[in-house]
Amino acid sequence: MLVGYALIATIVTLVAAIDWNRDQNGDWAADCDFPGNDIANKQTDGPSCSAFCRSVSGCTQYAYYQGVCYAKSGGLGRNNAVYKQGVICGINNPPGNTGGSCQCSPGECLSQWGYCGTTADYCGNGCKCGACFGTTPPPPQGSGLYGYSVDSYWSAIKSLNGGVDRSVAQAFYDQVQSHTDLFPKPLHIAMLLAHIMQETSFTATREYCVQDGTCYSYPASAYQPWVGRGFMQLTGQDNYSKLQQFSGVDVTSSCGLNWGACDKVATDINLNWVSSMFVWSWSVSDPLVQQGYFGKSVQIQNGGFECGSGSNLQAGQTRLNYYHTALSALGLPGDQYGLQYCQ
Ligand SMILES: *[C@@H]1O[C@H](CO)[C@@H](O)[C@H](O)[C@H]1NC(C)=O
Repeated sequence: MLVGYALIATIVTLVAAIDWNRDQNGDWAADCDFPGNDIANKQTDGPSCSAFCRSVSGCTQYAYYQGVCYAKSGGLGRNNAVYKQGVICGINNPPGNTGGSCQCSPGECLSQWGYCGTTADYCGNGCKCGACFGTTPPPPQGSGLYGYSVDSYWSAIKSLNGGVDRSVAQAFYDQVQSHTDLFPKPLHIAMLLAHIMQETSFTATREYCVQDGTCYSYPASAYQPWVGRGFMQLTGQDNYSKLQQFSGVDVTSSCGLNWGACDKVATDINLNWVSSMFVWSWSVSDPLVQQGYFGKSVQIQNGGFECGSGSNLQAGQTRLNYYHTALSALGLPGDQYGLQYCQ
């Protein structure tokens, strides 16, 4: 028994020995090496070794030892590294993965955003190499967040509601660019578009008003005149005050059903989008939503009505379908979580 324990302990030590880090240049670890495959070397300091490798044609991984950086070829991955005390080794993130074989570990996939993993986010649509499944649409070519352009947003919005004007997508583009922190993954763009489709179909009418601008005083609402406005139906004086803090724009100084500062949320397309970003910020601050659980954002956006034992399950399914439509229109991998965490 004692021998067995010692053996297991040794194996665990060996397996755990290489402790990988990841930064914008790729993977690196202390006490590891890629023996052989040297194509060039140079005296550098440790942090510059990755940059030296990138400057050498064909270099895909490197080792740094006692002031010298060794550039190496072969497209090797984490699993090819060996434990070697005092050496730093690294794998450069492939600009376009020029290094030959895939630089993720066996079974992993390189996503179109340059990260290794095993789920649909990595191996689904857009997967560059490794154990890819599904189709591979070309990555978006625009200059906005995640490569999206105004027109990529417009076609995604039109896949939900075909009648939306391009100026709506232009204003969305502008607001995404100034709130990139609200979209930690590309799929969060699809989530917000799905919620808006469900709430207002991208028509910014006031609650209790019709599209020609006529407003009715019924049904009586405790919220009047702070009724739902904008794509995400901002409602209640308190929320308008918070939007004012979020945006720095006066949306409270006077307020009537179809006039005053509050009404700009319905009539000014940019402010409308800011209000939608603001309401969305409540959802995306949740760790589960950040991980990609649309269901959790449904729960935050609209309570438990749309899932579990809620009273409007059909609405939850519709919302989920909109999300799937938006994902696909944005060229993103399919959703695998459904309405998990919606209750
Ligand atoms: C605004 O605030 C109230 C609570 O005061 C909340 O119940 C409501 O759903 C909020 N949502 C929006 C989108 O205005």
